[in-house]
Amino acid sequence: LPGLRAAAQEASPAASPVAIQPIATGPAEDQLEVFSWWTGPGEHDGLVQLFNAFSAAFPNVEIIDAAVAGGAGSNAKAALSTRLGGGDPPDSWQSHAGKELWGLYVDPGYAAPVTEIWNALGLDDAIPQGLADQLTRDSERYLIPVGVHMGNVLFVNRQVAEDNGITISEEMTPDDFFAAADTLQAAGIPALALGSKDPFAAPHLFENTLMGVLGPEAYIGLWDGSTAWDSEEVTAAIEQFGRYLDYVNEDHAALTWDGALDLVLNGTAFATSMGDWAYGAAVSKGQTDVLAWAPHPGSAGAYSAVMDGFTLPNTPPHPNNATNWLATVGSADAQAAFAPYKGCIPARTDADISGLSDYLQWSADQFASTTIVPSNAHGAAASPQLSQDIFDAVASFLVDRDVALLQDSLVSAVEADGLGQ
Ligand code: GAL
Repeated sequence: LPGLRAAAQEASPAASPVAIQPIATGPAEDQLEVFSWWTGPGEHDGLVQLFNAFSAAFPNVEIIDAAVAGGAGSNAKAALSTRLGGGDPPDSWQSHAGKELWGLYVDPGYAAPVTEIWNALGLDDAIPQGLADQLTRDSERYLIPVGVHMGNVLFVNRQVAEDNGITISEEMTPDDFFAAADTLQAAGIPALALGSKDPFAAPHLFENTLMGVLGPEAYIGLWDGSTAWDSEEVTAAIEQFGRYLDYVNEDHAALTWDGALDLVLNGTAFATSMGDWAYGAAVSKGQTDVLAWAPHPGSAGAYSAVMDGFTLPNTPPHPNNATNWLATVGSADAQAAFAPYKGCIPARTDADISGLSDYLQWSADQFASTTIVPSNAHGAAASPQLSQDIFDAVASFLVDRDVALLQDSLVSAVEADGLGQ
């Protein structure tokens, strides 16, 4: 396929156990409890790499993997909020940077600053300023980043493309995509695999569509109040979102994001609009050679940044282990071991990425050369309430397909939030 590179390399295990530098000086406690939503293919394999790195330094600590299944953390965040509200925090939990971190964890007083750990890890020199800003308030850091994903990627089944005479390039426009979709429809193949059982999946497709229609700068403006939500461009994006939905698999409400990816991997659907973690899932299934990729149609030049990190609770049950867990996830070597399995690039710019697959090298190039934009489907762009309102409005649209209603709902939700004021 012109313009695309094959997924040639698989993840390979770290040659030797990753050696981390402990930061806490006190004795290790007997347990470490880590909370995340990394139960899916790829994401769980990545988590295991981090656990292995911690265990190599602290072999006698029992690690409790408190992960709660559900893409993008929809179930996990609810379960965690119950625990935090009840004064029962794990030793560390996964969070995105940005408004999710502030709204769910810092403002309510659950997360403590990690500034000392940040400094001990030398992260001032290793984390790009734009990312660091999303976890910094009043000079205090609140998250140790572990990896960054590009969210606006179209993963394509190469063979289905070839069999149907479809050419894909990095500059593919929505019109190109819909022309291909008609060809595929005639052949009985859904052009787009969607797993809307995961509440984030349709909002994810919607925001990728907004990026493609508005372009990166105007898209950023949607989240800082400088781009109007009642514009004709947003109407056009909603209409285009509806067109994508015309070509999705009929069973989308029964599938999760990785179930939708399976349709692409198995050749029963053409493409899915997802983030780098989908590549990690393909690594886990040994099916990377099936895939080609490109930015979501029209969104070349934008990188929808989905950054994961781990927090420190105000009262961790095992404080030394909690600190040394953060020393682990924040180390360049552990991030280099984690990234190929997780499907992400290391958050640290000084981590060794020479061992990453062609796909992740491409993603790293995108990160370095495009405009970084925030994701709402993954917590960065909007407050938890606004984000939920958008999820709800998009979920309704899947059923009623009412363009004006979705736009009105979005405008009202943004007004109620006071976004950008
Ligand atoms: C994102 C998260 C990723 C990935 C994905 C699917 O929100 O940042 O790490 O796992 O959800 O669960």
